[in-house]
Amino acid sequence: MVCLGNICRSPLAEGIMRSKLGDQVLIDSAGTGDWHAGEHPDKRAITAAKNHGVDISKLRARQVKASDLDEFDLIFAMDESNFLNLQAMTSSSNQKSKIKMILGDLNVPDPYWGDASDFENVFRLLDAAIDEVIEQYQLS
Ligand code: 4NP
Repeated sequence: MVCLGNICRSPLAEGIMRSKLGDQVLIDSAGTGDWHAGEHPDKRAITAAKNHGVDISKLRARQVKASDLDEFDLIFAMDESNFLNLQAMTSSSNQKSKIKMILGDLNVPDPYWGDASDFENVFRLLDAAIDEVIEQYQLS
């Protein structure tokens, strides 16, 4: 699960997916940027997740690295900017084909400059999108 800072959208996506799949599947998240590396998720993301029974408080942000493109079978970008940055890191058609947009043609809106309701909206969008991903790729 990849966004820009790895403190708002992608940690929510990681936590939601883990809450649905447990340890059956290796799940991780990262940011295309490195400004927040080492930080816990944004407090508003932690609260939105907690309100739905999902604990993301212990996650730590990290930047995407080239080896992620080999290690993971599926890589979900939260928006088109993240998608294009990931595509630019690829060195093979196999790597390219792993990268998807989590909402298909739509972007997950960046809630960083918003308020609690924006984080709640992102949670709901991701919760529904991840149900679809689990079904589409038969992950459970
Ligand atoms: P995220 O949100 O990509 O969903 O983690 C953001 C976090 C930080 C910044 C932008 C978006 N920032 O500009 O620092």
